[in-house]
Amino acid sequence: MKLDASIYMEKFKDEDSYQKYYSRKDEVFKKLDSDYMNGWLNPPVHYLEKIYQVRDRVISNSKCLVVVGIGGSFLAAKAFYELFTPYFGEHFNVIFAGTSLSSRYLKELLNYLKDIDFSLNVISKSGSTMETTITYSAIKKLMEEKYSEDELKKRIIITTDPVKGKLREEVNHMGYDSFEIPDNIGGRYSLLTAAHLFPLSFVLNIEELIDGYFEGLKLRDDAFCYAVIRRSLFDFGRLAENFVAYDEKWSFYLEWVKQLFGETEGKDGKGILPVSMIHTKDLHSLGQFVQDGNKILSEVFIKVKKTPSLEINHKDLSKVDLLVEDAVISAHVSGYVPCTVLEVSEVSPKEVGELSSFLMLAAAFSGFLFYIYPFDQPGVEVYKEEVRDRLGQGNENK
Ligand code: PA5
Repeated sequence: MKLDASIYMEKFKDEDSYQKYYSRKDEVFKKLDSDYMNGWLNPPVHYLEKIYQVRDRVISNSKCLVVVGIGGSFLAAKAFYELFTPYFGEHFNVIFAGTSLSSRYLKELLNYLKDIDFSLNVISKSGSTMETTITYSAIKKLMEEKYSEDELKKRIIITTDPVKGKLREEVNHMGYDSFEIPDNIGGRYSLLTAAHLFPLSFVLNIEELIDGYFEGLKLRDDAFCYAVIRRSLFDFGRLAENFVAYDEKWSFYLEWVKQLFGETEGKDGKGILPVSMIHTKDLHSLGQFVQDGNKILSEVFIKVKKTPSLEINHKDLSKVDLLVEDAVISAHVSGYVPCTVLEVSEVSPKEVGELSSFLMLAAAFSGFLFYIYPFDQPGVEVYKEEVRDRLGQGNENK
Protein backbone atom coordinates (compact mmCIF):
# COMPACT_ATOMS: atom_id res chain seq x y z
CA MET A 1 0.00 0.00 0.00
CA LYS A 2 1.12 3.55 -0.33
CA LEU A 3 0.40 6.93 1.20
CA ASP A 4 -0.41 9.66 -1.32
CA ALA A 5 -0.29 12.97 0.53
CA SER A 6 0.33 15.07 -2.59
CA ILE A 7 -2.99 16.97 -2.38
CA TYR A 8 -2.31 17.94 1.22
CA MET A 9 1.27 18.96 0.38
CA GLU A 10 0.19 21.08 -2.61
CA LYS A 11 -2.89 22.76 -1.24
CA PHE A 12 -3.10 22.63 2.55
CA LYS A 13 0.38 22.25 4.00
CA ASP A 14 1.51 24.85 6.53
CA GLU A 15 5.28 24.48 6.56
CA ASP A 16 5.85 25.79 10.13
CA SER A 17 3.17 23.61 11.66
CA TYR A 18 4.29 20.55 9.69
CA GLN A 19 7.92 21.02 10.75
CA LYS A 20 6.93 21.64 14.38
CA TYR A 21 5.45 18.14 14.57
CA TYR A 22 7.83 16.44 12.15
CA SER A 23 10.79 17.51 14.30
CA ARG A 24 9.47 15.27 17.11
CA LYS A 25 10.09 12.12 15.05
CA ASP A 26 13.02 10.69 17.10
CA GLU A 27 11.27 11.35 20.40
CA VAL A 28 8.03 9.72 19.19
CA PHE A 29 9.80 6.66 17.71
CA LYS A 30 11.70 6.21 20.98
CA LYS A 31 8.48 6.43 22.99
CA LEU A 32 6.89 3.69 20.90
CA ASP A 33 9.94 1.46 20.90
CA SER A 34 10.37 1.63 24.65
CA ASP A 35 6.72 1.14 25.64
CA TYR A 36 5.72 -2.14 27.27
CA MET A 37 2.44 -2.25 25.27
CA ASN A 38 4.24 -2.35 21.91
CA GLY A 39 4.02 -6.15 21.60
CA TRP A 40 2.11 -5.66 18.31
CA LEU A 41 5.38 -4.50 16.68
CA ASN A 42 6.68 -8.05 16.92
CA PRO A 43 3.73 -10.33 17.67
CA PRO A 44 4.43 -14.08 18.05
CA VAL A 45 2.95 -16.26 15.28
CA HIS A 46 4.30 -19.68 16.30
CA TYR A 47 0.85 -21.18 16.99
CA LEU A 48 -0.47 -21.37 13.41
CA GLU A 49 -0.38 -25.20 13.31
CA LYS A 50 -2.70 -25.29 16.30
CA ILE A 51 -5.03 -22.79 14.63
CA TYR A 52 -5.29 -25.02 11.54
CA GLN A 53 -5.79 -28.16 13.62
CA VAL A 54 -8.64 -26.67 15.69
CA ARG A 55 -10.15 -25.02 12.60
CA ASP A 56 -10.25 -28.34 10.72
CA ARG A 57 -11.96 -30.02 13.64
CA VAL A 58 -14.58 -27.26 13.83
CA ILE A 59 -15.23 -27.49 10.08
CA SER A 60 -15.71 -31.25 10.41
CA ASN A 61 -18.15 -31.16 13.36
CA SER A 62 -19.95 -27.80 13.05
CA LYS A 63 -22.22 -25.92 10.72
CA CYS A 64 -20.94 -22.61 12.07
CA LEU A 65 -18.53 -21.03 14.54
CA VAL A 66 -20.01 -18.58 17.03
CA VAL A 67 -17.46 -15.96 18.09
CA VAL A 68 -18.23 -14.05 21.28
CA GLY A 69 -16.23 -10.86 21.95
CA ILE A 70 -16.48 -7.07 21.81
CA GLY A 71 -14.31 -4.02 21.02
CA GLY A 72 -10.72 -4.94 20.31
CA SER A 73 -11.62 -8.61 20.78
CA PHE A 74 -14.10 -8.39 17.91
CA LEU A 75 -13.65 -5.58 15.39
CA ALA A 76 -10.56 -6.65 13.42
CA ALA A 77 -11.87 -10.18 12.88
CA LYS A 78 -15.29 -8.88 11.85
CA ALA A 79 -13.66 -6.27 9.56
CA PHE A 80 -11.58 -8.82 7.65
CA TYR A 81 -14.40 -11.39 7.68
CA GLU A 82 -16.76 -8.95 5.98
CA LEU A 83 -14.12 -7.80 3.51
CA PHE A 84 -13.07 -11.30 2.44
CA THR A 85 -16.35 -13.18 2.27
CA PRO A 86 -18.50 -12.90 -0.85
CA TYR A 87 -21.64 -10.78 -0.97
CA PHE A 88 -23.51 -13.79 -2.28
CA GLY A 89 -22.55 -17.45 -2.28
CA GLU A 90 -21.17 -20.09 0.03
CA HIS A 91 -18.54 -19.70 2.74
CA PHE A 92 -18.03 -21.06 6.23
CA ASN A 93 -20.41 -19.20 8.51
CA VAL A 94 -18.82 -17.32 11.41
CA ILE A 95 -21.42 -15.64 13.63
CA PHE A 96 -20.20 -12.71 15.73
CA ALA A 97 -22.15 -12.33 18.99
CA GLY A 98 -21.77 -10.49 22.29
CA THR A 99 -21.51 -7.01 20.81
CA SER A 100 -24.63 -5.69 22.53
CA LEU A 101 -27.11 -6.59 25.25
CA SER A 102 -29.94 -7.01 22.76
CA SER A 103 -32.25 -9.66 24.20
CA ARG A 104 -33.92 -9.90 20.81
CA TYR A 105 -30.63 -10.78 19.09
CA LEU A 106 -29.56 -13.31 21.72
CA LYS A 107 -32.97 -14.97 21.84
CA GLU A 108 -33.07 -15.37 18.06
CA LEU A 109 -29.47 -16.64 18.04
CA LEU A 110 -30.18 -19.27 20.72
CA ASN A 111 -33.26 -20.34 18.83
CA TYR A 112 -31.22 -20.71 15.63
CA LEU A 113 -28.41 -22.61 17.36
CA LYS A 114 -30.59 -25.10 19.20
CA ASP A 115 -31.17 -27.24 16.12
CA ILE A 116 -27.70 -27.14 14.54
CA ASP A 117 -24.23 -28.39 15.44
CA PHE A 118 -21.89 -25.52 16.22
CA SER A 119 -18.66 -24.57 18.03
CA LEU A 120 -17.97 -21.55 20.19
CA ASN A 121 -14.91 -19.29 20.43
CA VAL A 122 -15.12 -16.86 23.34
CA ILE A 123 -12.54 -14.06 23.15
CA SER A 124 -11.74 -11.75 26.04
CA LYS A 125 -8.33 -10.62 27.21
CA SER A 126 -9.59 -9.68 30.66
CA GLY A 127 -12.00 -12.60 30.79
CA SER A 128 -14.62 -10.45 32.48
CA THR A 129 -16.15 -8.01 29.99
CA MET A 130 -19.88 -7.74 30.72
CA GLU A 131 -21.33 -8.23 27.22
CA THR A 132 -19.00 -11.15 26.51
CA THR A 133 -19.64 -12.84 29.85
CA ILE A 134 -23.42 -12.63 29.56
CA THR A 135 -23.50 -13.90 25.96
CA TYR A 136 -21.01 -16.69 26.65
CA SER A 137 -22.95 -17.98 29.64
CA ALA A 138 -26.22 -18.06 27.67
CA ILE A 139 -24.69 -19.96 24.75
CA LYS A 140 -22.70 -22.29 26.99
CA LYS A 141 -25.89 -23.21 28.87
CA LEU A 142 -27.48 -24.23 25.59
CA MET A 143 -24.37 -26.25 24.69
CA GLU A 144 -24.44 -28.04 28.04
CA GLU A 145 -28.01 -29.09 27.30
CA LYS A 146 -27.06 -30.37 23.85
CA TYR A 147 -23.61 -31.91 24.30
CA SER A 148 -21.69 -34.22 26.68
CA GLU A 149 -18.66 -32.92 28.61
CA ASP A 150 -16.33 -34.68 26.15
CA GLU A 151 -18.14 -33.10 23.23
CA LEU A 152 -17.91 -29.64 24.84
CA LYS A 153 -14.12 -30.06 24.90
CA LYS A 154 -14.24 -30.43 21.12
CA ARG A 155 -16.49 -27.41 20.68
CA ILE A 156 -15.44 -24.68 23.11
CA ILE A 157 -12.32 -22.67 22.34
CA ILE A 158 -11.19 -19.88 24.65
CA THR A 159 -8.92 -16.99 23.63
CA THR A 160 -7.70 -14.98 26.61
CA ASP A 161 -4.77 -13.81 28.73
CA PRO A 162 -1.97 -16.43 29.00
CA VAL A 163 -2.12 -16.63 32.79
CA LYS A 164 -4.84 -14.60 34.47
CA GLY A 165 -8.60 -14.06 34.48
CA LYS A 166 -11.73 -16.18 34.82
CA LEU A 167 -11.53 -17.60 31.29
CA ARG A 168 -7.94 -18.79 31.81
CA GLU A 169 -9.09 -20.44 35.05
CA GLU A 170 -11.86 -22.15 33.08
CA VAL A 171 -9.34 -23.45 30.53
CA ASN A 172 -7.17 -24.83 33.31
CA HIS A 173 -10.16 -26.41 35.06
CA MET A 174 -12.10 -27.80 32.07
CA GLY A 175 -9.29 -28.58 29.62
CA TYR A 176 -10.79 -26.59 26.72
CA ASP A 177 -8.61 -25.67 23.75
CA SER A 178 -7.23 -22.18 24.17
CA PHE A 179 -5.25 -19.43 22.48
CA GLU A 180 -3.41 -16.53 24.08
CA ILE A 181 -3.64 -12.75 23.80
CA PRO A 182 -0.20 -11.59 24.94
CA ASP A 183 -0.14 -9.31 27.97
CA ASN A 184 1.75 -6.59 26.04
CA ILE A 185 -0.82 -6.27 23.21
CA GLY A 186 -4.00 -4.22 23.80
CA GLY A 187 -7.38 -4.98 22.19
CA ARG A 188 -7.37 -2.52 19.28
CA TYR A 189 -3.77 -3.45 18.45
CA SER A 190 -4.45 -7.21 18.56
CA LEU A 191 -5.07 -7.91 14.85
CA LEU A 192 -2.08 -10.26 14.70
CA THR A 193 -3.12 -12.43 17.63
CA ALA A 194 -5.26 -15.55 17.75
CA ALA A 195 -8.20 -13.33 18.78
CA HIS A 196 -8.53 -12.52 15.06
CA LEU A 197 -6.34 -15.03 13.23
CA PHE A 198 -8.32 -18.06 14.48
CA PRO A 199 -11.78 -16.85 13.31
CA LEU A 200 -10.23 -15.53 10.09
CA SER A 201 -8.52 -18.84 9.32
CA PHE A 202 -11.99 -20.11 8.28
CA VAL A 203 -12.34 -17.64 5.41
CA LEU A 204 -8.96 -16.33 4.27
CA ASN A 205 -5.27 -17.10 3.99
CA ILE A 206 -4.00 -15.82 7.32
CA GLU A 207 -0.37 -16.32 6.33
CA GLU A 208 -0.80 -13.74 3.55
CA LEU A 209 -2.35 -11.41 6.10
CA ILE A 210 0.62 -11.95 8.41
CA ASP A 211 3.09 -11.24 5.58
CA GLY A 212 1.30 -8.00 4.72
CA TYR A 213 1.15 -6.94 8.37
CA PHE A 214 4.92 -7.25 8.74
CA GLU A 215 5.41 -5.35 5.45
CA GLY A 216 3.22 -2.52 6.76
CA LEU A 217 5.36 -2.22 9.89
CA LYS A 218 8.24 -1.22 7.62
CA LEU A 219 6.30 1.90 6.54
CA ARG A 220 7.13 3.78 9.74
CA ASP A 221 8.28 6.95 8.03
CA ASP A 222 5.12 7.25 5.93
CA ALA A 223 2.93 6.43 8.93
CA PHE A 224 4.65 9.19 10.89
CA CYS A 225 4.23 11.60 7.98
CA TYR A 226 0.48 10.86 7.91
CA ALA A 227 0.29 11.30 11.71
CA VAL A 228 2.02 14.70 11.36
CA ILE A 229 -0.43 15.76 8.63
CA ARG A 230 -3.51 14.95 10.71
CA ARG A 231 -2.00 16.53 13.85
CA SER A 232 -1.20 19.70 11.94
CA LEU A 233 -4.66 19.82 10.34
CA PHE A 234 -6.19 19.58 13.83
CA ASP A 235 -4.48 22.86 14.75
CA PHE A 236 -6.27 24.44 11.80
CA GLY A 237 -9.68 23.35 13.03
CA ARG A 238 -10.01 19.92 11.41
CA LEU A 239 -11.54 18.34 14.47
CA ALA A 240 -12.94 15.28 12.67
CA GLU A 241 -11.41 12.89 10.15
CA ASN A 242 -13.63 11.14 7.66
CA PHE A 243 -12.41 7.73 6.48
CA VAL A 244 -13.93 6.89 3.10
CA ALA A 245 -14.15 3.62 1.16
CA TYR A 246 -15.99 2.72 -2.02
CA ASP A 247 -17.64 -0.61 -1.25
CA GLU A 248 -20.00 -1.64 1.56
CA LYS A 249 -17.65 -4.55 2.25
CA TRP A 250 -15.31 -2.01 3.90
CA SER A 251 -17.92 -0.84 6.44
CA PHE A 252 -16.68 -2.89 9.36
CA TYR A 253 -13.07 -2.21 8.44
CA LEU A 254 -13.84 1.47 8.92
CA GLU A 255 -15.47 0.64 12.26
CA TRP A 256 -12.15 -0.92 13.29
CA VAL A 257 -10.27 2.19 12.08
CA LYS A 258 -12.62 4.39 14.13
CA GLN A 259 -11.95 2.34 17.26
CA LEU A 260 -8.22 2.41 16.57
CA PHE A 261 -7.98 6.21 16.38
CA GLY A 262 -10.88 7.03 18.73
CA GLU A 263 -9.69 4.94 21.69
CA THR A 264 -6.04 5.74 21.05
CA GLU A 265 -6.15 9.55 21.03
CA GLY A 266 -9.55 10.56 22.42
CA LYS A 267 -8.25 11.38 25.90
CA ASP A 268 -7.64 14.33 28.23
CA GLY A 269 -10.01 16.53 26.21
CA LYS A 270 -7.90 15.96 23.07
CA GLY A 271 -8.08 13.99 19.85
CA ILE A 272 -9.59 13.98 16.36
CA LEU A 273 -13.06 12.45 16.04
CA PRO A 274 -12.90 9.57 13.52
CA VAL A 275 -15.99 9.19 11.33
CA SER A 276 -16.57 7.11 8.20
CA MET A 277 -18.54 7.06 4.98
CA ILE A 278 -19.11 4.57 2.22
CA HIS A 279 -19.30 6.10 -1.24
CA THR A 280 -21.17 6.60 -3.30
CA LYS A 281 -24.06 5.86 -0.90
CA ASP A 282 -23.17 8.55 1.63
CA LEU A 283 -22.53 11.19 -1.02
CA HIS A 284 -26.31 11.25 -1.25
CA SER A 285 -26.73 11.93 2.45
CA LEU A 286 -23.69 13.45 4.22
CA GLY A 287 -21.98 14.52 0.99
CA GLN A 288 -23.71 17.89 1.26
CA PHE A 289 -22.14 18.56 4.67
CA VAL A 290 -18.68 17.47 3.55
CA GLN A 291 -18.73 19.66 0.46
CA ASP A 292 -20.42 22.70 1.82
CA GLY A 293 -20.87 22.53 5.58
CA ASN A 294 -18.82 23.44 8.64
CA LYS A 295 -15.12 23.10 7.80
CA ILE A 296 -14.26 20.72 10.63
CA LEU A 297 -13.43 17.74 8.42
CA SER A 298 -10.41 16.31 6.71
CA GLU A 299 -10.73 13.13 4.66
CA VAL A 300 -8.78 9.93 4.12
CA PHE A 301 -9.72 7.89 1.06
CA ILE A 302 -8.97 4.18 0.89
CA LYS A 303 -8.42 3.74 -2.82
CA VAL A 304 -8.30 0.26 -4.36
CA LYS A 305 -6.47 0.31 -7.69
CA LYS A 306 -7.74 -2.99 -9.05
CA THR A 307 -11.29 -4.24 -8.54
CA PRO A 308 -13.18 -6.80 -10.69
CA SER A 309 -13.90 -5.40 -14.14
CA LEU A 310 -17.50 -5.39 -15.34
CA GLU A 311 -18.53 -3.95 -18.67
CA ILE A 312 -21.75 -1.96 -18.69
CA ASN A 313 -22.78 0.17 -21.70
CA HIS A 314 -19.28 -0.23 -23.19
CA LYS A 315 -17.64 1.10 -20.04
CA ASP A 316 -15.76 -0.80 -17.36
CA LEU A 317 -17.54 -0.13 -14.05
CA SER A 318 -14.32 -0.62 -12.06
CA LYS A 319 -12.75 2.23 -14.05
CA VAL A 320 -15.84 4.42 -13.66
CA ASP A 321 -15.56 3.85 -9.90
CA LEU A 322 -11.95 5.13 -9.87
CA LEU A 323 -12.91 8.09 -12.03
CA VAL A 324 -15.73 8.98 -9.63
CA GLU A 325 -13.37 8.67 -6.68
CA ASP A 326 -10.91 11.13 -8.25
CA ALA A 327 -13.75 13.49 -9.16
CA VAL A 328 -15.10 13.41 -5.59
CA ILE A 329 -11.66 14.23 -4.19
CA SER A 330 -11.34 17.19 -6.59
CA ALA A 331 -14.81 18.41 -5.65
CA HIS A 332 -14.13 18.15 -1.92
CA VAL A 333 -10.75 19.87 -2.26
CA SER A 334 -12.52 22.70 -4.11
CA GLY A 335 -14.80 22.91 -1.05
CA TYR A 336 -11.64 23.34 1.03
CA VAL A 337 -11.60 19.83 2.53
CA PRO A 338 -8.04 18.45 2.91
CA CYS A 339 -7.77 14.94 1.44
CA THR A 340 -5.17 12.19 1.83
CA VAL A 341 -5.20 8.91 -0.09
CA LEU A 342 -4.18 5.47 1.17
CA GLU A 343 -3.84 3.33 -1.91
CA VAL A 344 -3.95 -0.47 -1.99
CA SER A 345 -3.36 -2.29 -5.25
CA GLU A 346 -6.16 -4.82 -4.63
CA VAL A 347 -8.36 -6.22 -1.88
CA SER A 348 -6.12 -9.08 -0.74
CA PRO A 349 -5.24 -10.23 2.80
CA LYS A 350 -1.65 -9.11 2.15
CA GLU A 351 -2.53 -5.58 1.00
CA VAL A 352 -5.12 -5.02 3.72
CA GLY A 353 -2.78 -6.50 6.34
CA GLU A 354 -0.19 -3.95 5.24
CA LEU A 355 -2.71 -1.10 5.38
CA SER A 356 -3.75 -2.20 8.88
CA SER A 357 -0.33 -2.19 10.54
CA PHE A 358 0.38 1.13 8.77
CA LEU A 359 -2.75 2.58 10.41
CA MET A 360 -1.81 1.11 13.79
CA LEU A 361 1.57 2.85 13.59
CA ALA A 362 -0.11 6.10 12.55
CA ALA A 363 -2.59 5.90 15.44
CA ALA A 364 0.14 5.26 18.02
CA PHE A 365 2.27 8.11 16.63
CA SER A 366 -0.77 10.40 16.66
CA GLY A 367 -1.31 9.68 20.34
CA PHE A 368 2.27 10.57 21.20
CA LEU A 369 2.03 13.75 19.06
CA PHE A 370 -0.91 14.80 21.26
CA TYR A 371 1.17 14.00 24.38
CA ILE A 372 -1.30 11.36 25.44
CA TYR A 373 -0.69 7.68 26.19
CA PRO A 374 -1.97 5.70 23.17
CA PHE A 375 -2.45 2.28 24.73
CA ASP A 376 -5.05 2.71 27.46
CA GLN A 377 -8.75 3.59 27.42
CA PRO A 378 -9.68 5.02 30.84
CA GLY A 379 -12.82 6.64 29.40
CA VAL A 380 -14.33 3.25 28.60
CA GLU A 381 -14.07 2.29 32.26
CA VAL A 382 -16.40 5.11 33.34
CA TYR A 383 -19.55 3.57 31.84
CA LYS A 384 -18.52 0.12 33.07
CA GLU A 385 -18.24 1.48 36.61
CA GLU A 386 -21.66 3.12 36.34
CA VAL A 387 -23.20 -0.16 35.11
CA ARG A 388 -21.55 -2.12 37.91
CA ASP A 389 -22.99 0.31 40.47
CA ARG A 390 -26.49 0.01 39.03
CA LEU A 391 -26.33 -3.77 38.78
CA GLY A 392 -24.89 -3.86 42.32
CA GLN A 393 -22.03 -6.08 41.20
CA GLY A 394 -19.13 -4.39 42.97
CA ASN A 395 -15.98 -5.17 41.03
CA GLU A 396 -17.06 -8.57 39.74
CA ASN A 397 -17.65 -7.85 36.04
CA LYS A 398 -14.85 -5.55 34.97
O1 PA5 B 1 -9.34 -1.95 22.74
C1 PA5 B 1 -9.66 -2.36 23.85
O2 PA5 B 1 -8.81 -2.58 24.74
C2 PA5 B 1 -11.11 -2.65 24.18
O3 PA5 B 1 -11.93 -2.36 23.10
C3 PA5 B 1 -11.26 -4.13 24.58
O4 PA5 B 1 -10.75 -4.92 23.55
C4 PA5 B 1 -12.71 -4.50 24.85
O5 PA5 B 1 -13.22 -3.74 25.93
C5 PA5 B 1 -12.84 -5.99 25.19
O6 PA5 B 1 -12.01 -6.33 26.26
P1 PA5 B 1 -11.71 -7.83 26.60
O7 PA5 B 1 -10.90 -8.44 25.52
O8 PA5 B 1 -10.96 -7.78 27.90
O9 PA5 B 1 -13.04 -8.54 26.75
